[in-house]
Amino acid sequence: MLFEPMAMCGFDVRNRFVRSATHEWMAQADGTPTSRIGDMYEELSRNEVGIIVTGYAYVNPKGKSDRFQQGIYDDRFIEAYREIVSRVHAHGSRIVLQVVHGGRQTMISSENPYAFAPSAVTLTGTGITPEEMGEQEILETIEDFAQAVRRCKEAGFDAVQLHCAHGFLLSNFISPYTNRRKDRWGGSTMKRTQVILDIIKRSREMVGDYPIMVKLNVTDGFPEGSKKNSFDAPESIEIAKMLADNGVCAIEVSGGIADAGDVMFRTKISSPEEEAYYREYSRMIKEAVDVPVILVGGIRSRGVMEMLLKEGYADMISLSRPFISEPDLIVRLRTGQADAVKCVSCNLCSDHSGIKCNYFKD
Ligand SMILES: Cc1cc2nc3c(=O)[nH]c(=O)nc-3n(C[C@H](O)[C@H](O)[C@H](O)COP(=O)(O)O)c2cc1C
Repeated sequence: MLFEPMAMCGFDVRNRFVRSATHEWMAQADGTPTSRIGDMYEELSRNEVGIIVTGYAYVNPKGKSDRFQQGIYDDRFIEAYREIVSRVHAHGSRIVLQVVHGGRQTMISSENPYAFAPSAVTLTGTGITPEEMGEQEILETIEDFAQAVRRCKEAGFDAVQLHCAHGFLLSNFISPYTNRRKDRWGGSTMKRTQVILDIIKRSREMVGDYPIMVKLNVTDGFPEGSKKNSFDAPESIEIAKMLADNGVCAIEVSGGIADAGDVMFRTKISSPEEEAYYREYSRMIKEAVDVPVILVGGIRSRGVMEMLLKEGYADMISLSRPFISEPDLIVRLRTGQADAVKCVSCNLCSDHSGIKCNYFKD
């Protein structure tokens, strides 16, 4: 099944593999994507990755999270993205732009002295407390996302993915730990999801039925019972259903916020039991929705990949770190040259001079 093509979101995909969004630290200072990013995606396409999701692209400079992050906040970026898209399409892969606002995890700089978030909840680790967003800021951010979606379509991306995971703005809204609002954007599950639903609605006015995917947090990741207002199933399953009912065409399942520690990209995954650490959530979501479910997080061996598809945990297998050390991983799996990834999940690939595997250097 791993190498069988499938149809989703109105297009065909050559196999069941997704390169999960991975920030590359390769854009220019103003967010312009570079040919170095295009080189990396073209190599993945030449090596048969079904769908390549880009690194997260910020929809407004006020929501930039990291240095050398790519942007999608202005029409001037469209041409550079169009070139990257055509390099990927030339080799048969699909390409999806992931769009984000940093929220609590916005990078503080002289131009950006404050982070903005649904509520002023201090970020563990940095000690930074964001400003609570006003009504006007929320409405402007919805517009920023929708304009970014329009730019994706104009640049020729096969779809857009809204980043609703990992402690960035949209996941700040859905979690009651980071959203303590008492107005129409906080409180019930529906109200905490409203900002995402409004982004979809406003995007539809501009792009019609253009495919919109989400990467969705299914849990904040705190140990069970340690935080009484944290986010987890079954609420996350309800949100997945709400998003699918509102036209989202594929859901990538992930989880974790920084406050909960090392739960998002876990290290030292060394046994099949430790692999695919959000699989129980994706199985529940698959039962609840009719759209394809993509699972990411610690998937490392062919046996587990096949089991996930066969036993109904997911429709697609998504990987981030393994493609940094082995861009040709899919070909190696398909031709029987590999049965597992080389990646040891050490996280040394988060290299600010541009992602690369710093474990298997030679
Ligand atoms: C260097 C690095 C950059 C990442 N950048 C993003 C990103 O831009 N957007 C995103 O949704 N996830 C990002 N992630 C998380 C991955 O997409 C993925 O969810 C996580 O690494 C678990 O998958 P893996 O075990 O296959 O690496 C990043 C991970 C790494 C290691």
